[in-house]
Amino acid sequence: MTRQHWSSRTVFILAAVGSAVGLGNVWRFPYLAGKYGGGAFLIPYLIALVVVGIPLLMLEFAVGQKMQQGAIGSFKKLNPNFASLGIFAIFSAFIIASYYAVVMAWCLLYFLASFGVKWSGDAESFFFKDVLQITEGVDKLGGINFPILFSLLLVWVAIYFCVWKGTKSVGKVVIYTVPLPLILMALLLIRGVTLSGFLDGWVFYLNPKWSALADPQVWTAAFTQIFFTLSLAFGTMIAYGSYKNSEEDIAKDTWITALLNSAISLFAGFVVFAVLGYMAVQTSTSVEELAASGPGLAFVVFPKALSLMPYPQLFSLLFFLMLLSLGIDSAFSIVEALNAAIVDVWNNWKITKLSLWICLATFIAGIIYSTRAGLYFLDIADHFITNYNGILVAIFQSILVGWVYGAEKLRRYINEVSDWKIGKWWNISIKYFIPIVLTALLATQLSKDLGTPYEGYPAWALNIGWSLVVVPLILFLVLLARDWNKIRDRNPV
Ligand code: PFF
Repeated sequence: MTRQHWSSRTVFILAAVGSAVGLGNVWRFPYLAGKYGGGAFLIPYLIALVVVGIPLLMLEFAVGQKMQQGAIGSFKKLNPNFASLGIFAIFSAFIIASYYAVVMAWCLLYFLASFGVKWSGDAESFFFKDVLQITEGVDKLGGINFPILFSLLLVWVAIYFCVWKGTKSVGKVVIYTVPLPLILMALLLIRGVTLSGFLDGWVFYLNPKWSALADPQVWTAAFTQIFFTLSLAFGTMIAYGSYKNSEEDIAKDTWITALLNSAISLFAGFVVFAVLGYMAVQTSTSVEELAASGPGLAFVVFPKALSLMPYPQLFSLLFFLMLLSLGIDSAFSIVEALNAAIVDVWNNWKITKLSLWICLATFIAGIIYSTRAGLYFLDIADHFITNYNGILVAIFQSILVGWVYGAEKLRRYINEVSDWKIGKWWNISIKYFIPIVLTALLATQLSKDLGTPYEGYPAWALNIGWSLVVVPLILFLVLLARDWNKIRDRNPV
């Protein structure tokens, strides 16, 4: 069976940008900037982008494109012992997809509730009591929340129809789902800058609080955000690279994808903080207080701000449509990571059938987040997968390319096919810099989590989070050792 390919380079770039630009840009980035030093957060963020994000994105595009396989097959071709690293990556992708779609399901419920701006009385209670119907703690599951489950089903049906014909259907969808949210964001920006108080929001957003830079937490947050936002370490960008022809440009596409993604994050920050500035004036609070709402930003503070504007229905609809259209191409890129990795192993499977099974399995895995304690589980899964699995896969990936396969070999390939040549700095980054920096990051996070239980969750709940890290990690290491011995026994020195 011949491997599917993108219909054009533009379609590839749209798909890659679509994967990168998602809820992470509009919801995660602004709240991190608000929480971790305003303008000062941009410094670790941009450093992380240049020293880790761009070199790793280039690595993933190059590995996929050269090997013409998803994560499992590509890693296996780099070195036969490392196929199981692909399993680690796509296991993590599976977990992310399972909760990412649930956040989209909330967006869908909010989109529907926008017609009546149902949260205008008390936005906080609307989110926690009406939408999530949240229980008082993770030990009270509270049964299934059917509106969320039904909405999740709709989200998965939509995702399925985006990926069911592989690159063919994805290529058609991204032509709309990538520009649409940007247009909506521009409309919201225009709305924002015509509201009183927007400048206060911008001042807060850009004003650097330099003391934040001394806090290691700020650096960890910036690096993990770069991973999440560039869809790195979960096999997604490898899969997307593998659908390119092996002689296409890599360096330019990497820079375009990464810079567009960060530009859109910065832009989203202007939209969010303009509106928060307005809300601060309306409610006589400070922007700082509003921005400190953390993850509640998209579902509590921002909707509240929308309800205070003239034509609240219209702008709420636009906002949640923006989130949905932003999220869908990120969500289906994760399904593509699974698709590409699995189809290489069982290549007699049809894409339509495989996609259906993957969507169904991921939907089922999402049921736990559709219970009334779902938010707690989502928070735990997100914490462990983004802070540990992503970083661990990235470390092993860099060691595999840098030390086992040879960074120089891959760099030569990148330079053969690319207009912009990359220097030896890339080898240094992959071989030394990335493994060292990421290990330090991992150690910081580990000592923090071992010192204080994350968010005060009970041990049994955190153990579920730990098992999401430890089980695939051990599986990877055991399989690595097994394959290593098998090959050594076959070729004794
Ligand atoms: N990059 C996406 C965002 O910022 O919302 C999230 C994401 C997509 C993470 C794909 C991981 C992934 F494989």
